[in-house]
Amino acid sequence: MPFRLKDFGENFIWGVAMAATQNEGAYNEDGRGPSIWDNFARRQGKIKGAAKPYVACDFYHRYKDDLLLAKALGFKAFRFSISWSRIFPEGTGKPNKEGVAFYHKVIDECLKLDMDPFVTLYHWDLPAALEKEGGWTSHHMNKWFNRYATFCATEYGDKVKKWIVLNEPFGFTMLGYMIGKHAPGKTGVNNFLKAVHHAAMAQADGGRILRSEVSKAYIGTTFSCSQVIPLSDSKEDKAAALKTDILLNRLFIEPLLGKGYPKDDFALLEKLELANTAWKYTDKLRFDMDFIGLQNYFPVVVKHNPFIPIVNASEVKAVTRKVPHTAMGWEINANGFYNIIKQFWKYGAIKEIIISENGAAFNDVVKDGAIADQQRIDYFQSHLQAVLKAKKEGINVKGYMAWTLMDNFEWSEGYNPRFGLIHVDFKTQLRTIKDSGYWFRDLLTQ
Ligand code: NOJ
Repeated sequence: MPFRLKDFGENFIWGVAMAATQNEGAYNEDGRGPSIWDNFARRQGKIKGAAKPYVACDFYHRYKDDLLLAKALGFKAFRFSISWSRIFPEGTGKPNKEGVAFYHKVIDECLKLDMDPFVTLYHWDLPAALEKEGGWTSHHMNKWFNRYATFCATEYGDKVKKWIVLNEPFGFTMLGYMIGKHAPGKTGVNNFLKAVHHAAMAQADGGRILRSEVSKAYIGTTFSCSQVIPLSDSKEDKAAALKTDILLNRLFIEPLLGKGYPKDDFALLEKLELANTAWKYTDKLRFDMDFIGLQNYFPVVVKHNPFIPIVNASEVKAVTRKVPHTAMGWEINANGFYNIIKQFWKYGAIKEIIISENGAAFNDVVKDGAIADQQRIDYFQSHLQAVLKAKKEGINVKGYMAWTLMDNFEWSEGYNPRFGLIHVDFKTQLRTIKDSGYWFRDLLTQ
């Protein structure tokens, strides 16, 4: 190994991440209400292999064993999300006692094992009842979200001190409300812009709520990010890269930092200001997070394309460029990871960064009860080296969370892309630690 654990510093947070819809299953047990993903999965052709998130890894029943596995691999922090519709089956109204109790059990188990729980309030699974009323496009959305956040903060705040407000707001607004690839499957710029505005409000409101309700809270929110590289030096490709960068990397962090929406180079975003003229946006959208969670998997290369509305850009895929890529078709490039961390740090206003997700899917083969996933080990190794490089330059990266503990439901891609450190046989629910899992154990317990 080219580095040692101590190179990252004593207080570095080593975590592993997962999310409710991707892992829990038990979708209609103990009073849980349906989420937009339960309904979306019923629509034909939306999810590869007609996969459903109804059982997933059955974490709901197997959480004790799974947490033991996370512990055995040496992780000190465990990131998971709360399924909103398990707590509020209708999105609002009366909380569901059994749902509330489930997260107490998961939290208690983490604490018993001496793993710090990092709780994500929203990882994409809106209660279906709220989507009926417009979901993230509705101007009631912030009222609903704030009630849910207040409930979670007061219910769990004595035990949980590490909080993540939203998971990748660009992910769920773009995929779910603009191009319809994710739940709820809505499309169009109008839906997108409304969803963006309400998500940008929610991340700041969520921060304020946690600050006021949870003593000694360590509060953050996460962003997907990718270094954006123009295919050529041409003016057109560079302009395409600029707009793509605004959407992918700047749209949510800049309002959070108090800079407002990045609309100067992107006229369309001015419409966000029109969503509700009564508010003074810049102040309301701002919140001083304790940490920013960055989630990176690959860099993006774009070229000018006038037929693509909004950005006038199209991505030139890794396969086309014939560069190394994962089973998702995502370029493997640790330098891109380093560059995007640096790009965020340059704002000068972020106190601490936690890499809240990073990892890779490969076509794992189980042979003689083992999974020799050297490619995934190489991926983690090179990306952790990029983190070290950033840290050595003074960038305050406080932690790293691997995505993900075990193979799970990869949204519209179904169960095929396997991101886990632990292999899951979805027929038998058998867990097998991959070589990459053992690699982490060797690093973390040396
Ligand atoms: C980001 C999302 O937060 C997570 O749910 C997803 O599985 C990974 N990226 C991999 O695509």
